[in-house]
Amino acid sequence: MPTPHIQAKKGEIAKIVLMPGDPLRAKLFAETYLENYRLINEVRGMLGYTGTYKGKEVTVMGHGMGLDSIGIYAYELYTEFEVEKIIRFGSCGAYNLDINVWDVIISEKAYSKSNYGEGFGFEGKDTISASKNLIQLAKEASKEVEINHNVLTTKINSSMWFYKTHNVDVPEQFVKKGIDVVEMEGYALYAIAKSLGKEALVLLTVSDHVAKHEYTTSEERRIGFTDMFKILLKIVEKL
Ligand code: HPA
Repeated sequence: MPTPHIQAKKGEIAKIVLMPGDPLRAKLFAETYLENYRLINEVRGMLGYTGTYKGKEVTVMGHGMGLDSIGIYAYELYTEFEVEKIIRFGSCGAYNLDINVWDVIISEKAYSKSNYGEGFGFEGKDTISASKNLIQLAKEASKEVEINHNVLTTKINSSMWFYKTHNVDVPEQFVKKGIDVVEMEGYALYAIAKSLGKEALVLLTVSDHVAKHEYTTSEERRIGFTDMFKILLKIVEKL
């Protein structure tokens, strides 16, 4: 059934949904990797496509920026379209000095200072885990593909702030807690998946180094995400 934010009809969305933040990245992903893909959503420009990869049906759809935005799409996908697994793939900023730009992160756990979790039964719980099955598959997949950068399985900070005027997210304090990178969506995805008994994973490429003040251009990112795509496609093969 169509929802307020997804126009697809029942059966038009696969059980496995891959989600970048940027809807144009979803379009490029479908054009590059999927066969027989068709547009299944363009409400609010949040492009989604369903096709096949090596014979397996998958949907790729944007989720926007922030906990709130991914939360809307993930909830509707899981509850109205019988989606079983969502894998977000995106970019993150590194806190830990041992991590380099273009390294790939398997997000075992997501931490958040926000109270977003309250809506899904996680009041007072600032850290939520990814699905064990998907973490395991991601670890295996990362060893089976040829890649040029390191892969780290760690805890991420799902921050509410990309911009801020005050120094609230201090890299060293996070590293002390075992939190090595920052993005803006994982915690909401994990809260929703867990609450609904579904599966979720966040796979990230380090696009910036927050502590070293290193940044990359959008053109560099287009190429730099190749390792993550290889791991992601290998996970899909294994599902
Ligand atoms: N902060 C939050 N999200 C991000 C960042 C960042 O520095 N880099 C990429 N995604």
